[in-house]
Amino acid sequence: MKLFEPIQIGNLELTSRIAMAPLTRCRAVQQNTPNEIMVEYYRQRAGAGLIITEGASPSPNGLGYRNIPGLYNQQQLEGWKLITKAVHEEGGRVFLQIMHTGRVGHTNNLPKGGRLLAPSAIAQKGDISTYDLGRQPYPTPEAMTLEEVREAVQEFRTCTEMAIEAGFDGVEVHGAHGYLPNQFLLPSRNERTDEYGGTRENRLRFLKEVLEECCDAVGSEKVGLRISPFSYADVDDDEQELIATYTAVIEMLGPFDLAYLHLSHMGDPVPVKFEMWQRIREKFNGPLMLCGDFTKESAEKALQENRADMIAFGRDYIANPDLVERFKNNWPLTERDNTLWYGDGAEGYTDYPFFEG
Ligand SMILES: Cc1cc2nc3c(=O)[nH]c(=O)nc-3n(C[C@H](O)[C@H](O)[C@H](O)COP(=O)(O)O)c2cc1C
Repeated sequence: MKLFEPIQIGNLELTSRIAMAPLTRCRAVQQNTPNEIMVEYYRQRAGAGLIITEGASPSPNGLGYRNIPGLYNQQQLEGWKLITKAVHEEGGRVFLQIMHTGRVGHTNNLPKGGRLLAPSAIAQKGDISTYDLGRQPYPTPEAMTLEEVREAVQEFRTCTEMAIEAGFDGVEVHGAHGYLPNQFLLPSRNERTDEYGGTRENRLRFLKEVLEECCDAVGSEKVGLRISPFSYADVDDDEQELIATYTAVIEMLGPFDLAYLHLSHMGDPVPVKFEMWQRIREKFNGPLMLCGDFTKESAEKALQENRADMIAFGRDYIANPDLVERFKNNWPLTERDNTLWYGDGAEGYTDYPFFEG
């Protein structure tokens, strides 16, 4: 099967085309620092062709959720080092996902000195779990000054450098799911009148500069990007504008020669999403990874039909640390159980069994 064929990503030879999707698990309970159970969790899943870690913030301002990890200080770097070492010892490969939550957060979740910053002072709809206040509506973020936008770009660069220092094989910039780079992309959340808002070119500028800095810092072969055309759009985002925006993103990516582009889909399947995926496949030259609702069979079909080069699995990786082996041997999968996705201990995290016949 194509799923089990090796593939070259940047300078890396991956053992299969199966990736572990980035999964926030909220176990970094002490000062957003990776800890021993996280080491164990990733070690167990090192059989993936590529692990993409849970989103890690490049800044105190990007830690909008409870107990998510960061990578902007030495203590966090030392924690991640243990994870990359464990994965490499098992023969795995691992990229750090850099996730800046921007407006998708709560001030009660931010560490001391952290601020809820976004392109514009427009609140995310809905509510969010906090450390001390239970569930709360998303607060209205502060609109970033021009200087703060430039600082945020530099935070992505520094985080990328620290990731390589911590032993990661590369980084994935999280440009999907409504987080900071995505907040700049769409007019429903970006009403800036400076060079980072207004025209499509201006709305793309933040993402472009982030990629320029990350690639300049460590080489484009170590930088991947995740986007989610049509998932996490707001109802007031116009469909034609979304198509035009994401088409412009793909054109912008041309010269970068990234390690890969990762397309994520969550929520109801909308035909236009998949038309967009196809259009992206035609326009984007590098390796393409797809994620969202795949089974072993549908993943193999997508590879056979040349719609993608790799497939990432999210929820099935939570419950099946040995997912590749289970697929290879046609072993049954452990059922999904969403009750402990965001728990704070080993239960529902590192206690999923490897298959025993
Ligand atoms: C518990 C949980 C946490 C997630 N955390 C992240 C994350 O940190 N970054 C990200 O890009 N996507 C995240 N996702 C989305 C997954 O990467 C993936 O796109 C999604 O689960 C769909 O793939 P699946 O159908 O194989 O599960 C998360 C999904 C779940 C269920």
